[in-house]
Amino acid sequence: MKVCVVGTGYVGLVAGTCFAESGNDVICVDVDERKLALLREGKSPIYEPGLEELLRRNQKEGRLTFTADLDQAVRSSLFCFIAVGTPEGADGSADLSQVLGVAAQIGRAMDGYRVIINKSTVPVGTADRVRAAVKAVTSQPFDVVSNPEFLKEGAAIDDFQRPDRVVIGCDSAKAIDLMKELYSPFVRTENPIFVMDNRSAEMTKYAANALLATRISFMNEVANLCERVGADVNLVRRGVGSDRRIGQHFLFPGIGYGGSCFPKDVQAMIHTAEEYGLDSAMLRAVDAVNDRQKHVLVHKVKAELGTNLSGRTFAVWGLSFKPRTDDMREAPSLTIVEGLLKAGAKMQLHDPEALGEARKFFGARVAYFTTNYEALRGADALLILTEWNEFRRPDFGRMKQLLKSPLIFDGRNLYEPAEMHELGFTYHSIGRVTV
Ligand SMILES: NC(=O)c1ccc[n+]([C@@H]2O[C@H](COP(=O)([O-])OP(=O)(O)OC[C@H]3O[C@@H](n4cnc5c(N)ncnc54)[C@H](O)[C@@H]3O)[C@@H](O)[C@H]2O)c1
Repeated sequence: MKVCVVGTGYVGLVAGTCFAESGNDVICVDVDERKLALLREGKSPIYEPGLEELLRRNQKEGRLTFTADLDQAVRSSLFCFIAVGTPEGADGSADLSQVLGVAAQIGRAMDGYRVIINKSTVPVGTADRVRAAVKAVTSQPFDVVSNPEFLKEGAAIDDFQRPDRVVIGCDSAKAIDLMKELYSPFVRTENPIFVMDNRSAEMTKYAANALLATRISFMNEVANLCERVGADVNLVRRGVGSDRRIGQHFLFPGIGYGGSCFPKDVQAMIHTAEEYGLDSAMLRAVDAVNDRQKHVLVHKVKAELGTNLSGRTFAVWGLSFKPRTDDMREAPSLTIVEGLLKAGAKMQLHDPEALGEARKFFGARVAYFTTNYEALRGADALLILTEWNEFRRPDFGRMKQLLKSPLIFDGRNLYEPAEMHELGFTYHSIGRVTV
């Protein structure tokens, strides 16, 4: 099948590559020439495990190409995916200018029937707006499908190729059949394809992300209370999560959620509720708890070392908003590193993949280290901000030698407090007693 994907970011590039991997001819379109140049050389502009290998194979076999020429791509394709950004606007609503702009461009380029698919996360009613934008510029037949994406960065290829479910929002039998055919290689294990109307599909994506964000904020609130009352949130989490009605996933407390989705999608859902005369009290609380949680580790540092941190140096392990990605959009590390810099501290940063991104945010105001141990040299304390696997079983003896004092602030609860105490560390974590 002939597919074009407009927007080759975390979603579009993964979707395009995976559609090519299942035998389709895919053209990926972007306006970013730097990205296109890298992609044409077989290099992925983002770090996503397994992506580059798939990218190269499909490019080599001629099924995957990259272009800035949207018109040509649309003329060669039956399926036109929109996977551009929907950033948070000034008022919290999703900014749809990229989506609607691309929709009109697709409309102008069409020379026959097309299935136009919205893969970007968009508020309820966007399919109608896309339909109107296309209809305004063409008399060619088309259908608009809402096909939200549920992949997780860091496991995106696997999520795309083996999704828990595929949601197809559409009222045209023809487009539904075509979409089912396109997705058939990914649902061979009988994972469901849910067909519904456009609005329900659009709502499903926001409701899913809002619920996941809610679980995180809820557990962060529980963690903060655990600290006060002398309970251990890890034990509480296990006890709570083993209830099958609740489940163990997404109950890990930490330093707040970040990334390009949860913060903006929670805001967008609050905004949609307001537009329709409702007050989303719950999601406003989820958002407020998350904002507060991003500051918890800096408060702990100041409680231990004082509010004036000039003359202090901190090592940081982990900057991306979660492991196995280089994405730092809305990462808690941004708030934490800025908070410590503001208090006068010097920062020595390490991340296995996100140092390139980190430079864009912090420039020459911090020092960067490609190995985690080197970042520790001469630091007053270590802060752990992302739970990369390589941080889970480090050489604690070596860490003690390199640090000026054996002090750790762990925002991801990687270690056991009792063991850390025995090893001679002062160990702060989230929702557990400090030793
Ligand atoms: N990142 C995720 O994990 C994830 C998961 C599910 C859904 N989503 C949603 O998918 C959408 C895309 O997210 P992303 O993280 O891939 O964004 P991104 O910023 O990584 O990528 C967007 C791409 O679109 C390109 N673009 C912008 N305007 C364009 C135009 N007119 N023509 C062609 N290309 C254009 C940009 O250059 C960029 O490469 C968002 O709505 C997001 O909420 C993201």
